[in-house]
Amino acid sequence: MKKVLKKILPSSFRKAYRSNKTSYRIFSDYFEDYRNYRKYSASLDLKSKEMIQAYLIKEYHAVEKGLALPIPRPGFGIERITELISKLQMYIQTYGKDSISDISVSTLQEYLAFDKKHNKETSPLVPLIENLIQAYNQSDLESVGGTLPMNRQDLLPLLDFDFDSFFKSRHSIRDFAEEPVDTKIILDTIDTAKYAPSVCNRQAWKVYVIEHDNYALKKALLNVQNGNKGFGDKISSLIVVTGKLSSFFSYERYQVYIDGGMFAMSIVLGLHSKGLATCCLNTSYNSSMREAFNNALKTDDDCVPIMFIAVGHLKDNYKVANSKRRPLSELVEVR
Ligand SMILES: Cc1cc2nc3c(=O)[nH]c(=O)nc-3n(C[C@H](O)[C@H](O)[C@H](O)COP(=O)(O)O)c2cc1C
Repeated sequence: MKKVLKKILPSSFRKAYRSNKTSYRIFSDYFEDYRNYRKYSASLDLKSKEMIQAYLIKEYHAVEKGLALPIPRPGFGIERITELISKLQMYIQTYGKDSISDISVSTLQEYLAFDKKHNKETSPLVPLIENLIQAYNQSDLESVGGTLPMNRQDLLPLLDFDFDSFFKSRHSIRDFAEEPVDTKIILDTIDTAKYAPSVCNRQAWKVYVIEHDNYALKKALLNVQNGNKGFGDKISSLIVVTGKLSSFFSYERYQVYIDGGMFAMSIVLGLHSKGLATCCLNTSYNSSMREAFNNALKTDDDCVPIMFIAVGHLKDNYKVANSKRRPLSELVEVR
């Protein structure tokens, strides 16, 4: 039938048909993304604990940033902070105290001290913040929120290493040694990679580490991944980096991928620093691939896949794709 149609239909018609079909597919994948974002992001309502946490982090961090400015403005942000306090009280009542509420209160305590120093004791926030602080031991609030004093002289010695060589010595590796990778090294690396920047410090990340001997899950995930042919079965551990839509609001629709990408890069560099071989693997799925991914790895509902990171030990000798870089002049325009 396909052959017959090919004969009788003019090539211009076939071309138009193909491009319409592709357009439709792109549209339907976007539509699926829209439905997920609408359903699982915090845009419409703070309907889960994680969404309220994202809101609290976003708002207390706005206060931290305000306090870290060269000349903070006494009495800044009264309206936003009033709202923050109200949601924070509701959060503590519903879920109890935790690290996020501790950081929020600690930040507000520094805000209060700053305001008092600048004679804003008449601020309507004073009794509200004092009321929050009363329920805490001072030691719980020490250095968990607010600002940190930094010193250039302390920092400089830590930067005395050859970053250029380190960065340029990383390659995507598709030929691993047999030896399994110890999960502890991966976990330690992720524990450092979490210091990657993220929007308002929301850290909307969730990582799934598939261990060396979980062959079935690795296979199920790699079967729907378009880019591990010829080396997938030699991967020791598979890291699945996902981002959590529940931490994002309204027009932040791409933020999950930006923050997720930065986090993934940090993990890759961390593993490289420990002498492990890595290769990023794309999770650019259409709807049916995404469904297969979801069926294989039961993630939290609000998670979107960012990428996989294949991990293995280095062989003594191996080849990598050259992956030549473009000249700087093609990548940069200085204005
Ligand atoms: C998000 C992302 C997805 C990638 N997906 C694949 C993949 O599916 N298969 C693969 O072999 N390499 C993949 N790569 C690796 C790239 O091909 C590689 O990073 C690029 O060619 C530059 O080479 P280098 O990493 O050796 O510097 C991916 C890289 C990134 C950042």
